[in-house]
Amino acid sequence: MDHQRLAMPVGEAMFTQRAIRRFRPDPIPVEDLRLILEAASKAPNGGNNQIARFLVVTDRALIREFGALYREAWWAKRWDDHRWTGPADIPVEDRTHRSAMGLAEEMKDVPCVVFALAEPPGAANSVLPACQNLMLAARVLGIGSVPTTLHAKVMDRFRAMFGIPEQVAFHFCIPLGYPRGQFGPNTRRPTSETTSLDRWGAPVPWA
Ligand SMILES: Cc1cc2nc3c(=O)[nH]c(=O)nc-3n(C[C@H](O)[C@H](O)[C@H](O)COP(=O)(O)O)c2cc1C
Repeated sequence: MDHQRLAMPVGEAMFTQRAIRRFRPDPIPVEDLRLILEAASKAPNGGNNQIARFLVVTDRALIREFGALYREAWWAKRWDDHRWTGPADIPVEDRTHRSAMGLAEEMKDVPCVVFALAEPPGAANSVLPACQNLMLAARVLGIGSVPTTLHAKVMDRFRAMFGIPEQVAFHFCIPLGYPRGQFGPNTRRPTSETTSLDRWGAPVPWA
C-alpha cells in the first residue's frame, strides 16, 4: 500500500508540524500530491457524507494570478481587523503577522496551492479534519503547509478564476511546498491551561 510511504511516527509529525510560509520553488511530485490527497480523503466527516472537495493548483500562470488576489485578500482582512494598510503598520514584534505578510507577498511563487472546498456546502467541521490529514501527510513527506483564508472582497474573482460554482463552499487555501527553513516544535499554551478533568475548570492530574 502506498500509505506505507507515510512512515514517520505520528507523534513526530504532529509535534514538528508548524505553519510553513516560506517555500522553495521545487515542484511536488504528482505521486506525492496523490498520496497527500488520499490521506485527506480518509479523515472523519459527518455522516460519512464526504462533502470535502479539493482543487489542486500547480499551473504557474494561475498561481501567479491567484497570488495577486491572495495578497489583496490578506490586506483587506488586516484593514478589517486592525486598520492596517501597509508593512509599516505591523508591529515588529508581531512575528505571526509579519510572517503571514511574507506569505501574502510570496503566494504567487509557491509550487502548489490546494483549495479546500465543500459540496454541498456543509459544515466546516466536516472539511477541517481532512485538511489536517492533508497537512500531516505533507509534513511526513517533507512538504510544508499552512491553512489560510481569503476575504469576501475577492471571492467573486476567486470563483471566476478557477470556475468554482456558487454551490461549492470555500474553506481553506493551503499552499504546499518544500520549506525554506525548518519544521520544528511550535509554541502552544500548556494543556493544563486548556483542559479540564470531569468538570469545567477542574485541573487535570498532570497540571
Ligand atoms: C482558521 C485558520 C486561519 C488561518 N489563517 C491564516 C492566514 O490567513 N494566513 C496565514 O499565514 N496563516 C493563517 N493561519 C495559520 C495560523 O496563523 C497558524 O496555524 C498559527 O499561527 C500557529 O502557527 P505555528 O504552528 O507555526 O505555531 C490560519 C490558521 C487557521 C486554523
